Amino acid sequence: MKILVTGGTGYIGAHTIVELQQQGFDVVIADNLSNSYADVVDSIELITHIRPIFEKMDLTNAGETKALFSKHPDIVGVIHFAAFKAVGESTELPLKYYQNNLFSLVNLLNSMQEFNITSLVFSSSCTVYGQPETLPVDENASVQKALSPYGNTKQICEEIISDTIHSGKLKAILLRYFNPIGAHESALIGELPIGVPNCLVPFITQTAIGKRPFLNVFGNDYNTPDGTCIRDYIHVVDLAKAHISALSRLIGKKNEENCEIFNLGTGIGYSVIEVIHSFERVSGLKLNYKITDRRAGDVEKIWAETSLANKVLGWKAEKGLDDMTLSAWNWEKKLAEKNK
Ligand code: WQD
Repeated sequence: MKILVTGGTGYIGAHTIVELQQQGFDVVIADNLSNSYADVVDSIELITHIRPIFEKMDLTNAGETKALFSKHPDIVGVIHFAAFKAVGESTELPLKYYQNNLFSLVNLLNSMQEFNITSLVFSSSCTVYGQPETLPVDENASVQKALSPYGNTKQICEEIISDTIHSGKLKAILLRYFNPIGAHESALIGELPIGVPNCLVPFITQTAIGKRPFLNVFGNDYNTPDGTCIRDYIHVVDLAKAHISALSRLIGKKNEENCEIFNLGTGIGYSVIEVIHSFERVSGLKLNYKITDRRAGDVEKIWAETSLANKVLGWKAEKGLDDMTLSAWNWEKKLAEKNK
């Protein structure tokens, strides 16, 4: 069965393709390489010994999107990752984010409708919850006003999908990711931030390898045990596996509703300091870090209620924090070797 993976050369997309291929699916990647590299296709092939089809194209172009589906009439399902995701940049260039993240979804849905493809897995985010009143946060918690245009695009995309479902044959699973980190155990694929990383773990590993002088810890005066923010970090390979469960549920017509939403996290929250300590434990290094001011827009603490995904998708995150930080470190070291 052929699956279209948009944004397939990106971080989560690439890990998901490995799992898809290992479960016997054929993959077509659609990616414009705006924030990733074509050689990720080689790395995927090195891991699985199967080369996914790669179509370099722009989903914000309706004609190109239609042509993609005409070229691959045997696509049976779509996993849509392709999107811009830098929170800070989205506040400076909101239209860039609305144009890219919304237009690409609309074009994709139009083509899916035209070519009668009904199964969609969509990459959403826990950012839709803002700072939840109750923790762990479950899927019924209210969606809060987004703190950034990026976050808003995820909310609007969820609404576009839901409205499309109500008017036609589409069925979708919206996966709300918590904080994906880590890399494939082969260290052949991983997170590859362009420029200065925004996210914690790439910043930690780049500091440890010597690319950055020190890590700024954004605030230690939060209402948490050690004063730093708490997140639900999830290993990217665990996260990838959930996509196979979700897609199989749709293709196998096992879904109970046409729009289902699942949190993807471990259910455990760790503070920034705990992540640093985990990194120090697995690497044997001392990390250079400084406590600095809070970062605008950060929620204090969030972690997921995951029982719905556990029960309904038959999926559970298996890897612990040390597995995550160790695999991220192995990936960073391999990158450094490659770039020598
Ligand atoms: C985690 C914690 C920071 C960097 C963001 C998006 C979200 C999702 C994933 C993706 C926070 C602290 C970070 C640093 C630090 N989207 N930190 N020093 O903000 O939870 O989620 O990425 O594509 O939508 O909002 O993740 O990794 O940036 O931060 O102290 O240099 O680490 O304050 O507490 P976040 P993050």
